[in-house]
Amino acid sequence: MAKLATGRVTVKSSKLLDEFNASLMFDKKLYAEDIKGSLAHACMLKKQGILTDDELKQIEDGLVQVKSEIESEKFLFDISDEDIHMAIEKRLTEIIGDAGKKLHTARSRNDQVALDFRLYVQKSGKNLESLTINLMKTLLNIAKKHDKTMLPGMTHLQHAQPINFAYHMLAYVAMFQRDVQRFSDSYKRNNLSPLGCAALAGTPYDIDREFTAKKLGFDGVSINCLDTVSDRDFALEILFNIATLLTHISRLAEELVIWSSCEFSFVALSDEYSTSSSIMPQKKNPDVPELLRGKTGRVYGNLISLLTVLKGLPLAYNKDMQEDKEGVFDSVETADISLRILNEAMLTLSVNEKKMQDACKIGHLSATDLADYLVNKCDIPFRDAYKITGSIVVLAEKLGVDLSEIALENLKMVDSRIDEDVLEYLNLRNSMNARDSQGGTSTKETKRQIEYFEKWVKNYEK
Ligand code: ARG
Repeated sequence: MAKLATGRVTVKSSKLLDEFNASLMFDKKLYAEDIKGSLAHACMLKKQGILTDDELKQIEDGLVQVKSEIESEKFLFDISDEDIHMAIEKRLTEIIGDAGKKLHTARSRNDQVALDFRLYVQKSGKNLESLTINLMKTLLNIAKKHDKTMLPGMTHLQHAQPINFAYHMLAYVAMFQRDVQRFSDSYKRNNLSPLGCAALAGTPYDIDREFTAKKLGFDGVSINCLDTVSDRDFALEILFNIATLLTHISRLAEELVIWSSCEFSFVALSDEYSTSSSIMPQKKNPDVPELLRGKTGRVYGNLISLLTVLKGLPLAYNKDMQEDKEGVFDSVETADISLRILNEAMLTLSVNEKKMQDACKIGHLSATDLADYLVNKCDIPFRDAYKITGSIVVLAEKLGVDLSEIALENLKMVDSRIDEDVLEYLNLRNSMNARDSQGGTSTKETKRQIEYFEKWVKNYEK
């Protein structure tokens, strides 16, 4: 069958133009959304008396057949059809004849593509939201097992204060919670139907946009048609939401890489999620977290790329906008597999509690507690206490002992006001549990945070 839209341009397009102009090879991913939109549109046309019962029936049967041809891989994709919208309409018309030619009444590819793409983005956002929830649940389960497992909390990647491993996991749970909220906020904001906006100015036909919106699961219709066919904010939003999600994933991945190194050995990735070297038989490499970290770069690129495509475009549709899809597909698919594999890697992660605990004895992690002791028990102003503690740390270094294990007489040598009760302050577990302020790392406070997040997840899933 010849091209569908041979209006003003009657000469057959060059092969190179077809190749350059076509989006079919990637936007065929939108076939289900396109058919869903066409079904809703046809239903509305019939309700408004623009199509007859019989024409609607033919269109419905025809579209069902097209869908099954695509799904059974019998559909012939030909790039001279340009895009999925034209390809489906052409095949429909081949199958049912004249009724197929009426489907595009009161519609333009501009509102059609805006609809299909928005449906895809909305569906993808929901999926990523629930995969992120799964990851939160896995991290919460790890947290529940480790609210007493101490490890050195760090700043500047230097030992700082003892914290528990659950608390560290909960920091990521909090990030992923915001990611879920971002997906869900975007979903709500963008759940408006573009269908019926036509090319850019609306349509003279007596259409019912609310009807199609409802049929397609939208909360309402967009306000201004010129904006709607030009708008790709919804795509920018999911790209940003994914970029932020991947930032969080990448930071966790980086810690997994560091923690699984032999210098740390805090965790071990299961063999199933590790790879070996082609030459060094002893190697077990953390490819999964490394790739998670690496893929983050690509999804940042997709966000910047679409922002750049859009920034200079006059209203309304411009062909530049066809460049909106590949980056979004790529980011969505990258986020999907990243969330799934990270979840599996975390489920099978083994935690070396002893290594973590032993590492707490390096770096005088209870130094702040000693200063606090001098303030609380000896009535010394904090800045002086800080100085005295500094001298004690220097002494401990000289003696080759960690502050948590220094002898009382050595402490007294520096400041005679120090008494036996200081040892409680220097104890590492006491140091961790002393941080009992709201949002802190004590086991008690950590348990409260676990409870909060578990409740939140449960509520979310209701
Ligand atoms: N394939 C096009 C795209 O993805 C569909 C919209 C075409 N509209 C137009 N007026 N040329 O953007």
